[in-house]
Amino acid sequence: MNKEQIKQIKNEYKDKSPQEILKFAISEFGDHLKIASSLGVEDQVITQMATQINASVKVFVLDTGRLHQETYDVLDQTRQAYSVNYEVYFPKAESVESLLQEKGPNSFYQSIENRKECCGIRKIEPLKRALSTAKAWVTGLRQSQSVTRAALPIIEWDEAHGLVKVNPLATWSEEDVWAYVKEHNVPTNRLHKQGFPSIGCSPCTRAIKEGEDVRAGRWWWESLDQKECGLHSK
Ligand code: ADX
Ligand code: SF4
Repeated sequence: MNKEQIKQIKNEYKDKSPQEILKFAISEFGDHLKIASSLGVEDQVITQMATQINASVKVFVLDTGRLHQETYDVLDQTRQAYSVNYEVYFPKAESVESLLQEKGPNSFYQSIENRKECCGIRKIEPLKRALSTAKAWVTGLRQSQSVTRAALPIIEWDEAHGLVKVNPLATWSEEDVWAYVKEHNVPTNRLHKQGFPSIGCSPCTRAIKEGEDVRAGRWWWESLDQKECGLHSK
C-alpha cells in the first residue's frame, strides 16, 4: 500500500468504527498484519474485536522480562478467553546478560542513555523481529493519551519501521474504551483499577494521582519530552 492509498483510506475510514477499520486491515493485509499488544485496556479491546472478525489474527507481545505479574495474569486469561495464540518476543539473552553484568538490574534510573539502552534491548530489537515479516501493524494508541498523540491518524505510514501502522482506537476516549470493556466483558489488567491507566514495565511504571496526566506514571523520573521508548515516534 503506497502513501497515496493510505491517504485515501484515511479519508474513507475517518468516521468509521474501530471494528470497520480492523475489518479493512485484516482483509487487506491478511497474514501480513500484526497486532501489537501490551495487554493494556486498549489492546484488550482491539484483541477482542479482531478475534471476533478472524479467530486466527496474529497478536504479538513484547515480553521485556520486566512486566508486572498482573500483566502475565491477563495474558494467560486472554489466551483462554479468546483462544489467542500470542506470538511472544523476548529480548536476546546475551544482550540482557551483558547489560546486567555491566550496569546492574536498575541502570535505567541512572540516565536517559541507560534507560534508552534498556528499552533498546528489551523492546526495540524484539519489535524489529516481530515486524520483520509484516506489511502492517495495529496499535492501541489513542489521540487523547497525550498531547504528542493529539493528531494521531487511524492509518499512517510508519517511517521508522517501514510499514503501514493502523490505530483503530485513535479517536476513542478513555470512557469509550471502558464502556466497550463493560459491554463485552473484556478481561483487563487488575492494575488499571489501582491507578495505572498506562502500564509498561514494572520498574518503570507507577500509579498516578487524581488529576495527573494518564502517562505521568510512565518513566516518572524523566521530563515529559523525554518519555519516548522508540516503539512510537509519538
Ligand atoms: S509506549 O511507547 O509508551 O511503551 P504505550 O504503552 O502507550 O507505548 O502503548 C502504545 C501501544 O504500543 C500499545 O497499544 C501497543 O499496541 C504497543 N505496545 C506497547 N508496549 C507493548 C508491548 N510490550 N508489546 C507489544 N506491543 C506493545
Ligand atoms: Fe527497561 Fe524500563 Fe524500558 Fe522496560 S520500560 S525496557 S525496564 S527501561
